[in-house]
Amino acid sequence: MTQMGTQKVTQTRHLIGLLLGTEEDWPRAFEEILRRLGPITGADGARHVFDCERSTIEPFSLRDRPRYNLVVDRLAYWYYHPREWLKKVALMDNVYLLNSPFTFQSMEKHAAYCAMMRLGLKVPETVLVPYKNPVDNARYAYTAARYNRSFDLAAIAARLGYPLFMKPYDGGAWRGVSRITNLAELHAAYDQSGEMLMHLQKAIEEYDVFARSLSIGAETMVMRFQPDQPMHQRYAVEHSFLSPTAGEEVVTIGRLVNAFFRWEFNSCETLIKGGEVYPIDYANACPDVALTSLHYYFPWAIKALVKWCVFALVTGRKPKLDLETDRFFEIADDPATSYSQKLAAYRELADAYFDYERYNDFCATSLGHIDEVVLEWVAGAGFDRLLIETVRSVYPPAEHDQFIAHLRGLVGLWVSDETARLQAA
Ligand SMILES: Nc1ncnc2c1ncn2[C@@H]1O[C@H](COP(=O)(O)OP(=O)(O)O)[C@@H](O)[C@H]1O
Ligand SMILES: [Mg+2]
Repeated sequence: MTQMGTQKVTQTRHLIGLLLGTEEDWPRAFEEILRRLGPITGADGARHVFDCERSTIEPFSLRDRPRYNLVVDRLAYWYYHPREWLKKVALMDNVYLLNSPFTFQSMEKHAAYCAMMRLGLKVPETVLVPYKNPVDNARYAYTAARYNRSFDLAAIAARLGYPLFMKPYDGGAWRGVSRITNLAELHAAYDQSGEMLMHLQKAIEEYDVFARSLSIGAETMVMRFQPDQPMHQRYAVEHSFLSPTAGEEVVTIGRLVNAFFRWEFNSCETLIKGGEVYPIDYANACPDVALTSLHYYFPWAIKALVKWCVFALVTGRKPKLDLETDRFFEIADDPATSYSQKLAAYRELADAYFDYERYNDFCATSLGHIDEVVLEWVAGAGFDRLLIETVRSVYPPAEHDQFIAHLRGLVGLWVSDETARLQAA
């Protein structure tokens, strides 16, 4: 409590932890925006102050009390000590996490495919085949001899139809992904899969658009993605590249996946062909938000991250660890409901889960200044320094000038679009 004149104003401090790997770009942006934002007044008139710290990795007693109120994680997807720490602070200390650490296992594509198939989404036909090479376990030889049934890989592929994709059940970043057009490629890919567990998935060919949607809390940005381009050109800056219906469907699918698994920071890949939307990869919790890949969309992403964290803390949003899958399955399993009716019903559940309306009200009343704050910073010298340092840390010296110019161009475009948007508003 702080005394201000005769009036008592409640002041709450919130500490945000950032769990980071090698990245420097978005954390600096996050810290800077949060600092420039300053204290926030909640709907009840109380003042909220935010501090932000980068979490360190060290031994922890399971009964230690963490200092953080909320943690943004981009490390635990590969580093298991902090992953277990996240589970501990979620279960014992009510620390707000953007993604439930208990459904991290569903970041393997397999569970996500299953769940979304059950919900009726148009996931391409997919088969899981047993390991090519023996599993490293003394019991394997006996078990396999007794219970592994021999199978005809060629027949499975023929049933799915070529071309198809072979990819690890728990993949990410294109590791082990191959496109297969004939029997020879099929056998070669399977032989190479070794100890990786593989899906075979029917390819969606000659699709019209690849849309990658990035969701942060209640906000979703649908971006046109060009997977055949080098990383810095994969996200095209293009605004109305989907029909309104397909655009809504893509947003709904992303939010649905996230509400279902309790993820608030995830990206979702869909292929759109002739008006149909096919989800192919949507378990990417803790997605890439690097300046060098997101460029034009980077200010939106980091701003959305700050807004969502502040919203969650100020409104006392409770993290949900239980999945309540029945609520989704009831809609899915109703034979009288059409696909579009299901989507509408899922969207209602998802928007309710993300507190969509309250979030927008909160942004309008308590975060009215954030757009100006971010625009001013991104247009200034501090952001340009971040851009230069990021390029220097990512690319070899011979490419620095080229990439600095490339990123300045795209960020400059965002600055002029955003300036026009705010002037019009
Ligand atoms: N069923 C499919 N149809 C068409 N293209 C696909 C399909 N599955 C994967 N791909 C292509 O392969 C890439 C990598 O596969 P994806 O499932 O996204 O794995 P990762 O998690 O490694 O990104 C996709 O971005 C897409 O270009
Ligand atoms: Mg992918």
